[in-house]
Amino acid sequence: MTATIPTAAPDATPVETVRTEDSRTYAAALERSAVLDALIEEHATEDPARFRMLTGDRPTGPLHIGHFLASLRNRVRLQDKGVETFVVIADYQVITDRDSVGEMGVNVRGLVLDYLAAGLDPGRTTIFTHSAVPALNQLMLPFLSLVTDAELRRNPTVKDELALSDGRPLSGLLLTYPVHQAADILFCHSRIVPVGRDQLPHLEQTRAIAHRFNSRYAAGQSVFAEPEALLSDVPLLLGTDGTKMSKSKGNVINLRDTADETAARIRAARTDSERRITYDPSARPAVANLLTIAGLFFEESPESLAERVGDGGARALKALVTEAVNESLAGHRARRADLARDPAYVTSVLHDGNTRANEVAERTLATVRAVMGMSY
Ligand code: TRP
Repeated sequence: MTATIPTAAPDATPVETVRTEDSRTYAAALERSAVLDALIEEHATEDPARFRMLTGDRPTGPLHIGHFLASLRNRVRLQDKGVETFVVIADYQVITDRDSVGEMGVNVRGLVLDYLAAGLDPGRTTIFTHSAVPALNQLMLPFLSLVTDAELRRNPTVKDELALSDGRPLSGLLLTYPVHQAADILFCHSRIVPVGRDQLPHLEQTRAIAHRFNSRYAAGQSVFAEPEALLSDVPLLLGTDGTKMSKSKGNVINLRDTADETAARIRAARTDSERRITYDPSARPAVANLLTIAGLFFEESPESLAERVGDGGARALKALVTEAVNESLAGHRARRADLARDPAYVTSVLHDGNTRANEVAERTLATVRAVMGMSY
C-alpha cells in the first residue's frame, strides 16, 4: 500500500462492517425498489422504454448459485414482463484489481451460456461486452470531467475492493471504474439497474453524473435521466463453509457443476452437531444458510424447511439441500450443456448483441457531442 493513497489508510472501513449511515440509505433504497417493482409489474408491457434495464457481470469465472438466486432469475423475470433488457459483460472491469486478464474468452462465453440457459432471450435482451463498444467507452471522457478525485476516493466500494486486492496500489482504472459503470448505464438510457447492495455507491455516482451532465453541458435539458437501483430481496448467501462465497475458498456451487459435484460439495458443507434442525441465523449461521438456499430454490420459507427436516440432523438437511439445488438446476444444466455444443451460436449471440449495443451507443455519443458543440 502506498502512503499517498488515502483509501489505503489503516482505518478504512472493512468490507463486512455495516455503516449506520449506509444502512439508512440502504433501507430507503429497499423501499424505493419495492415501489419500482410494483410499477414494473403494472406498466412494463405498455411502456417498455420507461423501464429499460441494464445490469452486468464481470467475467472473472463461472457463475454460482448465489448469482442465480439473487440476480439471474430476476433478470429473466423482468425480461419476461416486457422490460427492455441490456446485459453488459464487463470485460474491462476485470482488470481494475488484478494483473492479468485470465481466461477472458472462456469466461465471457461461459457467462453467455448461463444467461441463455437461464432464459435470457437474445431476441429481446442485448448481451454485449465493453470492449466491443467503443462509443460507450468514449462517454467516459466527458463523464470524467464531471467528477472530482475526492469523490472517487471516497467511494466505499472502491475502497473495499482496494483493501481486498492484497496490498496492490490503486490503479487509475479501479479509481475511475464507477464512472465507466455510469457509461454502461447511461449509454442506453437505462432507467432501472438491478444490483446488489455493494453497487449502490456506483448508482449514486451515476445519478450525479447524469444530473451534472444535464446542467453543465445541456442547459438543463434532460439528455440523461437518473436511473434507479432495483435491489434484490434475496438475503446475502454464504458459501458451504459458512463464510463469504468465494471461488478461491472452494465453497461455492457453480451453475455448471454436475449433480454429483454438487452433492459432494454439500456433503462437505459445515453444519453443527445438534440433531434437531432449526432456523436460527445468529446462533447457527451455517445451518441457516443451507436452509435459506434450499428455501430459495423450493420457494419455501427456511423455517418450514427446518420443520420438515426436524430431528433428521445434518444428514437429512444436506440431502434436502442437494435435492433442492439439483432438481431446480437440472433444466438449466441440460440446456447449458446443449448450448455448449454449439460455440458458433454463442459467438453469434455476442456479435448480434455487440452490434445492437454499438448502434445505441453511437446514437447516444452523437447526441452528447452535439449538445457539447462537438459535432464537426
Ligand atoms: N460492477 C458490477 C459487479 O461487479 C458489474 C457491472 C458492470 C454492472 N457494469 C455494470 C452492474 C452496470 C450494473 C450496471 O457486479
